[in-house]
Parts: sequence; structure tokens; C-alpha cells
Amino acid sequence: MAIPGLYVALALLPVLLGLLRPLHSSNVFPFGPASDSSSPRLLLLTAHPDDETFFFGPTLTSLIPSSGVSLSPSPTHSNSVPFAFPHVYSLCFSVGNADGLGYERRRELQDSLDVLGVAEDKRWVLDKNEFQDNITAMWNASLIAATVYDFISDHDISIILTFDSYGVSGHPNHYSLYHGVSQLLAMPPASFKYPLAAYSLTSKSVVTKYIGIMAPILAKLKMTFSSVLQLTGRGTETGSPDLPVQPIFVAGIGGYYRAVLATLQHRSQRAWFRWLYMVFSQYLWVNEWERIHATVDVKTL
Ligand SMILES: *[C@@H]1O[C@H](CO)[C@@H](O)[C@H](O)[C@H]1NC(C)=O
Ligand SMILES: *[C@@H]1O[C@H](CO)[C@@H](O)[C@H](O)[C@H]1NC(C)=O
Repeated sequence: MAIPGLYVALALLPVLLGLLRPLHSSNVFPFGPASDSSSPRLLLLTAHPDDETFFFGPTLTSLIPSSGVSLSPSPTHSNSVPFAFPHVYSLCFSVGNADGLGYERRRELQDSLDVLGVAEDKRWVLDKNEFQDNITAMWNASLIAATVYDFISDHDISIILTFDSYGVSGHPNHYSLYHGVSQLLAMPPASFKYPLAAYSLTSKSVVTKYIGIMAPILAKLKMTFSSVLQLTGRGTETGSPDLPVQPIFVAGIGGYYRAVLATLQHRSQRAWFRWLYMVFSQYLWVNEWERIHATVDVKTL
């Protein structure tokens, strides 16, 4: 009995490995032409050290080639249009000092960004009174907008990624960033050197949040299904090439491993439930994005 079982397992192995390759939707962010000189600059906005790996791993590992890989579109992105790798910047709004561990957590964030491959001159951590790690505090959206505005102006950023209006876990610091970016987008287009596009990470319901390795498999089925619908002209997506709809990044086994390694850099945060999170969370496998729209300016109504 054991031998046939072994053969079946061996036969299924390539299928499994095939399922665990990285994949992204053909629509990603508006990266523009794929030439090195015009590599777009993309900013990840987070609230606390460890957000970058806990929630945004699949996107970061897809957008940043692992060290040693030359900067060319990755051949592992099967079934999808290759993109020019963007320059990835990271701005974390706090040192995560809610438990007085801010000093250590700032260092852990650096180690994690090393693993993920965000360059040292492209990362910043704020430690301001207005933006302290606090699970009951909303941060001021106008202040966030002003802070991000200065940052993207200084660094020629054209794409911002952050949390959505629920903020994955319902943490007000997370969704404050969403509201801040939404206000930023309400500024007159002439304020920006480059047209600005922003995206939010889609929060999942409790039911689908912890499906672990099923997440990449289901996401790929969904992507295949929707591309079939599009081919047959029955797709419901109405995106133009300039305005991609709901980009999706699915990590492969390598990307997942890199995200886990990065998560392990957050030594002060290790606890048994974090291990469970790494095994079961779908955010280590799949990131789905939605375009952020500008806040309607109440004063002009
Ligand atoms: C957290 O924010 C609340 C207000 O939302 C405030 O009352 C409380 O003092 C803050 N906690 C700390 C430690 O600053
Ligand atoms: C947020 O900050 C702005 C600019 O500093 C200020 O005018 C506004 O009153 C603040 N809003 C709240 C709710 O504190």
C-alpha cells in the first residue's frame, strides 16, 4: 500500500510545484514603458515595523528581484505581462512603540527590509508625536497627506501602496494611512510632478483570511477564470491599459520563503500566534489591490 502512495505523491509533486510558482495579474500598476531610465518609483506606506512582511510580502517579493538577480523582467512570471521592476521605497509612519520597544523594532525593520531587498537609501521610519503606535488612535489625515506629499515630491514617487479603509486588521493607525492618501489624491493634479496613482490592499474577511496555502491556489484559479471570461468577451472589468483594475500578486514558494525570513527579523514580536499567522495567513501568499480614489472635498460641495 505504501508504494503506490509514494508514486502518487511523486506524480503530484510537479503539479504542486507548478501551483506554487509566482504569478501576477496582467494588469499591475501603471508602470509605463519598460525601460530602465524610466523605472517608476513606488512607495509602500506602512504604520508599524512588521506591516511590510505581514501584509505586503507577495507584492514586495514580486516587485523586487531577490538579490543576485539582474534587473530584468522575471521569466518566472508565467502567463502575465512582464513589467519593468520599479524602484521600491518604504515609509513607515511609526517605530511601533506601543510596548516601549520602538528602538528595537526600528532596527528589526531595517533587517526585514534588507531581506526583502528595499535599498537602504530608499527607506524611512518616522517617530513623531502625531503618529505614535496606538491601537485606539486615528492619525490626522491632513497631516498624513502633507507628510506623504513632501516625501513623494522629494523622491519623484508616482505610485503609492498602502492599507484600505479597514486596514486588514481594523487597526486605526492602518486605515488612517488610507484616509491620508485619499486626501493627498484630492490635491490639484498640478501639485504633482508625475501623475499619482495609489492602491490599497484589499482586506479579507475572517473566513478567508487564514486559508494559508489554499490562498495562492484559489487566487490562481480565479485569475485563470477571469482571463477566460475576458477572452470570451464576457469580462466585467472595464479597465483601460492606463488604469489597471485590481492588480493581484501571488507569491511563489521562493517569495513566501523570503516573506517568512523577513518576518523572522522582527525578533521582539515573536510569539506562538505569529507562527500560526505565518502558516495560515493568506497575506503571505496573496495581495489584491484596489485603486484609491480622492476624498471628495466637502468644502467644494
Ligand atoms: C492612545 O490614543 C488615545 C486616544 O485615541 C489616548 O487617549 C491615549 O492616551 C493614547 N495612548 C498613548 C499611550 O498615548
Ligand atoms: C489635523 O491637522 C490639521 C493641520 O495641522 C488641522 O488643521 C486639523 O485641525 C487637524 N484635525 C484634527 C481632527 O485634529
